[in-house]
Amino acid sequence: MTLAFSQQVYANDQRDAFIKALMGKMTIAEKIAQLNLVTPTSKTGPFATKNAFLKLKDGSAGNVYSVMGEPDFIHEKAMLADSTSLKIPFLNGLDIIHGYKTVFPIPLGLSCSWDSILIEQTARVAAIEGSAVGYNWTFSPMVDITRDPRWGRVMEGAGEDPYLGSVVARAMIKGYQGDDLKSETSLMACVKHFALYGAAEAGRDYNTTDMSRLTMYQYYLPPYKAAIKAGAGSIMSSFNDIDGVPATANKWLLTDLLRDEWGFKGFVVSDYNCIQELVAHGVASDYEEAAGKALIAGLDMDMASESFAGSCQKLLDDGKITIDQIDAACHRILEAKYNLGLFENPYRNFDPGKASTVLLCEKHKQVAKEAACKSMVLLKNENQTLPLSRQSKIALVGPLADVQNQMFSMWSFRGETDSIVTILNGLKKQQNKIVYTEGSFITDEPVFLGKSRGFYNDQEQAEMIAKAIEAANQSDVIVAVLGETSNMSGEAKSKTDISIPNCQRQLLKALKATGKPVVLVLINGRPLTLTDDLQFADAILEAWRPGTMAGDAVADVLFGKYNPSGKLTMTFPRSVGQIPIYYNHKNTGRPYVDGQRGGIMKFNSYYLDELNSPLFPFGYGLNYTSFRYGEIQLSDTLVTGDKGKLTAKITVTNTGNYTGEETVQLYLNDPVASLVRPVKELKKFQKIYLEPGESKELEFELTTEDLKFYNHDLQWQWEPGDFNLFVGTSSSDVKVAQFNWQK
Ligand code: GLC
Repeated sequence: MTLAFSQQVYANDQRDAFIKALMGKMTIAEKIAQLNLVTPTSKTGPFATKNAFLKLKDGSAGNVYSVMGEPDFIHEKAMLADSTSLKIPFLNGLDIIHGYKTVFPIPLGLSCSWDSILIEQTARVAAIEGSAVGYNWTFSPMVDITRDPRWGRVMEGAGEDPYLGSVVARAMIKGYQGDDLKSETSLMACVKHFALYGAAEAGRDYNTTDMSRLTMYQYYLPPYKAAIKAGAGSIMSSFNDIDGVPATANKWLLTDLLRDEWGFKGFVVSDYNCIQELVAHGVASDYEEAAGKALIAGLDMDMASESFAGSCQKLLDDGKITIDQIDAACHRILEAKYNLGLFENPYRNFDPGKASTVLLCEKHKQVAKEAACKSMVLLKNENQTLPLSRQSKIALVGPLADVQNQMFSMWSFRGETDSIVTILNGLKKQQNKIVYTEGSFITDEPVFLGKSRGFYNDQEQAEMIAKAIEAANQSDVIVAVLGETSNMSGEAKSKTDISIPNCQRQLLKALKATGKPVVLVLINGRPLTLTDDLQFADAILEAWRPGTMAGDAVADVLFGKYNPSGKLTMTFPRSVGQIPIYYNHKNTGRPYVDGQRGGIMKFNSYYLDELNSPLFPFGYGLNYTSFRYGEIQLSDTLVTGDKGKLTAKITVTNTGNYTGEETVQLYLNDPVASLVRPVKELKKFQKIYLEPGESKELEFELTTEDLKFYNHDLQWQWEPGDFNLFVGTSSSDVKVAQFNWQK
């Protein structure tokens, strides 16, 4: 429900008057309590808050997260607010990252759908389910740009591109918050992790980040800004330092940029224990100093460290902070609660019966199945191995083929494992000629072995492989489901080796040696180095962690009921040594294109022992059909003026035998500018659906807005000159045209 401007102004005045009156009744201790976010569990961080529920009850904490359990339990804890003198309702948050009870593919997988409407739908379903059990706040979307798959949290984001990352961020905010934050089915979003967290050096989680302001503005900041402009109610400061100052105490980041430059009106919550960690970073000598620095920098709410609760009164008494700074933070938090409608309807007409009607309902599962299908990316398909015939005898092999909880990620802790359709079960629903065998341990990596993680032994491994070969020899085709476990990616899950675990690769090799066609289905949370495995698979389907409807979706894709249309949003490297590797790179003064320049002794920018090109580039994804791209038709080759417009048309034809969906991507390159510009940048894309033989003419309209970039003075501007325009099926398979744009 959008209000007319005058109504909005009146509504804001009403809100401000209400908050002013409320704050007029609050003691300093009650104001400080609003800045305090506690948690009864250490499910997603190093520790739980001692006596969290007591602190909520006595009013020393004003917000809570990760209260997990049945709706009645969550509601009972939320009602502790009624025990406090002013009965100010709590923000009640949870990491609802890719679904609550109905679990969707991991966000990195979902982003490969390039389908903003679908992505919004998944966030809407997550909000309906999360709000039905009593939450009003989710720590999502994670919009960190990522170029390093060693970092385990790449699974939580939308990959490497700022334009696509911004499209996904807007869709998630809209889905979570809906049209009216006061609606009972809305969740207030919390954009994270602000900022640059995905650029952790060496892909090691929580590590330092270091980049120029130009790189920040051009590549890493846009999705956060897009989320703020889309109306996100809150934002979370990240663990890392920026320009040497940790985000949580970084005034340039939290005040100058976020509030003064971007106009953000919501509140900033720290990530888990970030205030205390200022001491470990080395910018505060104790927690009291840390709390003061964070508040003064612009942090409003303290997650889990209780530093504000423990130090603000003393800092105030010592004149190190002001009551205005406490009031400002408290006001923003009360405003968020007001915007959520919590003062009128603190428990949103809580009704446990409502939850049971929405959690995992058929409609939501259908969205989950569509999302899983559209997130999958066909990486290889030789000899038309896929789609499978329903007449084929299938040997289904692999340690991830029939394990329910491996279809989720580490963040889907409220998902119902029993509800998951495994790949075996999904295939069985559609075909009855399947022989299944585990084939291998999940891993032989020592770090993952030990009493709690299951044992590995060569003898048993050899026996499992022998059984798999036996099954393969009796079948027409092998489907091998391999990859990572859910605890190999996610928070604090960085890896230096991002290949499929060795024992699984041995299985794959043995299966290929049978001479039967091999379909590799990947279950993983990051781009993997598959270079040596390609030869052992005739077809490769990247299925990510597909969520609740995993088996049905994989079956639909393998049997051709759904023609895979996903496109990678993060580059797959050939080897870890190439990282960071991303499509929108710069040309350098000594560019080198694999195989196009002299011998290995030429003085160019390349590796002696590896190609420059990725294994699979950004925007890449095959289809069961084939598409032919015509030549680009430009409305002009010379355009003038700020208000000029240019139309690029291209005809795409389905030249294959299957109806298919294609994501047509448009990139620009500015070959000569005041700054080095990337070889190409995604500017637009359109999804089309073509029957066999059908053609469609697509039209893209360009304005000077599409030419703009941040110049050395960080001004968002465009410069006249020649431009290269690319349209194609991936960032490396494009048609090219040129135009010139003059002032
Ligand atoms: C974690 C994560 C963050 C999450 C928060 C609350 O440390 O960094 O993404 O939202 O704590 O669980």
